[in-house]
Amino acid sequence: MSDKATLEIKGQKHEFPLIVGSEDEVAIDIKTLRGVTGGVTTIDPGFKNTGSCESGITFLDGEKGILRYRGYSIEDLAEKADFLEVAYLLIFGELPTKEQLDKFHADIKEKSVVDEDIKKIIESFPKAAHPMGVISSLTSALTSFNPSSVDVSSDEAMYNAIVKILGKFPVLVAWTMRRRMGLPLDYGDDSLGYVENILKMMFKRPDKEYVQNRVLVDALDKLLILHADHEQNCSTSTVRIVGSSHAGLFASLSAGISALWGPLHGGANQAVLEMLEAIKEDGGDTKKYMAKAKDKEDPFRLMGFGHRVYKNFDPRAKIIKVAADEVLADLGIEDPILDIAKGLEQEALNDEYFVKRKLYPNVDFYSGIIYRGMGIPVEMFTVMFALGRLPGWIAQWKEMRLRKEPIGRPRQVYTGENFREFKSINKR
Ligand code: SDX
Repeated sequence: MSDKATLEIKGQKHEFPLIVGSEDEVAIDIKTLRGVTGGVTTIDPGFKNTGSCESGITFLDGEKGILRYRGYSIEDLAEKADFLEVAYLLIFGELPTKEQLDKFHADIKEKSVVDEDIKKIIESFPKAAHPMGVISSLTSALTSFNPSSVDVSSDEAMYNAIVKILGKFPVLVAWTMRRRMGLPLDYGDDSLGYVENILKMMFKRPDKEYVQNRVLVDALDKLLILHADHEQNCSTSTVRIVGSSHAGLFASLSAGISALWGPLHGGANQAVLEMLEAIKEDGGDTKKYMAKAKDKEDPFRLMGFGHRVYKNFDPRAKIIKVAADEVLADLGIEDPILDIAKGLEQEALNDEYFVKRKLYPNVDFYSGIIYRGMGIPVEMFTVMFALGRLPGWIAQWKEMRLRKEPIGRPRQVYTGENFREFKSINKR
């Protein structure tokens, strides 16, 4: 195969090098395009055909339904690793030794105390405020309490910023949920594991001893692993582009949280549950909602279905579907919503509209069923997605800064008015 691409523009041929990745993905390197063609650029709404960077963190094969973090399969990691190990792997590139993992966890615990004044910020929000708006604001507010931005040239400064956010973010997540539930904003217990402590911070009641439930711990640990990174999705691209202006890590993460909130992205896990509830209220009439999803006049989409990259089953959805059965059974919960979801999945997988467009269940289709079974309010579902995605965002931000990537600034094709003379108001 030639290692160049040739473009003929206005009768002139131009050659551009091909980049081939470690999984044989091929890209045309158009870094010189505008210069050699006198200003010609490309346009690609939604960047469906455009790579923003080279990255060594996560590999997806949408056609084969493959997902790997630093070369390890998502199936292996979900089965054999724990979330903090996976966070370490994504951020530092290797699975940690026991000593490395213990030190990482100890350093995170050391930095997990949050300034009491953050409580004043939380208490200033209406109780009914959507948790994604609260957590995005609190994450940005961390900058006010940790003003020195990361000196990325210093490994120590980078490491400290990483353990700081991995320590504080779970506290902010727990406080955001507890605020809505009218519970006191306090800490968990640093003698516990990372995920055990998250659950205790979220659910501990002031009047009772908190009893760990292994089923919940294992379920949350697996869900967080499955959400931990996903190459250049909308929110990760947001974190990278905000960070490319050398805005701080916390500010970049806050922007990523806002991007994740959208119902086409992470907000879909809440929208799926609301959709399934609506179908249940409607007597379980999935056919009506399938028809709505296919009706071009109807803005309704089958939430939790379809994906920009996966044109096969989302491997995460497969794992979560199995876990949903196990967790609900272990918790002794009979949730009719799960049966509605499975019925909807079967219908869509056999429907020409969905088959032709290769629309399969994605990560958001079943995750909410588990969160609900765990007692997490539906408005918190996307916050849980952010909690899982945090190490991926950190890893991608760190890679972008350490590689000294240029500030993200796309071009455009102007289609507005040509030059026109100004008219004074009495002549308009
Ligand atoms: C996540 O990118 C990532 O990696 C994201 C994520 C991650 O881990 O970070 O995986 C997490 O965001 C998962 C996706 C969650 N979103 C949803 O479940 C919302 C519902 N899905 C869609 O809105 C849609 O599928 C997207 C947004 C996910 C993908 O949209 P694309 O790639 O821009 O595809 P498209 O909108 O151009 O759709 C192609 C066709 C269209 O029909 P035609 O114009 O060809 O006739 O498929 C149709 C769409 O109308 N279509 C759907 C549909 N999804 C696509 N029709 C009905 N229901 C749907 N869900």
